[in-house]
Amino acid sequence: MEMVNCDLHFHAGRHGRGNFDDIVRIGCERLGRGGILGLVNCDDYRYENIVDGKGRSIESYEIGDLLNGVWVPEHDFYVVRGQEVFSESGHFLVFGFPKRTNIESKQLYFALEVCRDSSHFKGLDHKDYKSGMRRVLGKALDRNLGYFDFDETFNASAELSIGYANATAQAHYDSVIKDREFENPLTGESHKIGEVAFTDAHSLGVIGRSYTRVEALPETCRDDSLLLISELKDRLRVATRKDQVRRPNRLDAAVHAFHLVVTNKILG
Ligand SMILES: [Fe+2]
Repeated sequence: MEMVNCDLHFHAGRHGRGNFDDIVRIGCERLGRGGILGLVNCDDYRYENIVDGKGRSIESYEIGDLLNGVWVPEHDFYVVRGQEVFSESGHFLVFGFPKRTNIESKQLYFALEVCRDSSHFKGLDHKDYKSGMRRVLGKALDRNLGYFDFDETFNASAELSIGYANATAQAHYDSVIKDREFENPLTGESHKIGEVAFTDAHSLGVIGRSYTRVEALPETCRDDSLLLISELKDRLRVATRKDQVRRPNRLDAAVHAFHLVVTNKILG
């Protein structure tokens, strides 16, 4: 079985800036041929700005009717559109929404409600780190795990934490999630929740520092947006700790935290 490298938690450069060709070039260097990079919106449309920007000259094709990813033939490389939803009950990652469509609600119930069909997949990110869902909800998260398809038990940027957020997340995964099936309350589907490592990068130089190895996507994903998401979802649901390649991303995370403080607290 051919395996490829997948890092679905990349926010582009500082303040969401970046050039598509540079992202693909660095992404291919780090993740390799067949690699999958998630370019993740925050409360903005950085994916759209980059994909539609002047910096896209490399041969590449937006995928299917939903335009929820781009395929680059030269490297058989995928850039997949995602969003980190900043709900009041903690953050989560979602993939599968069409281009120019973000989840707007900050209330977790309403944010999840718009994921009612199975054309998306969602994951807990840095659940025991700042704004993580277990950090906010505590044990209440355990009753709601079925909404999620993967658990980012290693977030390279959360290695900045002096509270050992990743170790805490892994211990929770082992005791509550590992080898069990959960029912998604919205779709009725029963499924496993895979365990992944992603970078949560905020600069191009650290794309793919951490990633998860998954089975290569079939060629049919290159022009079928629903298939792309369902194939990726299947792979993430069965990912295990031995599929994780973990490298901390402390410097980039520290610079990002500094930028957030300056932007939010000082400039207002
Ligand atoms: Fe993030």
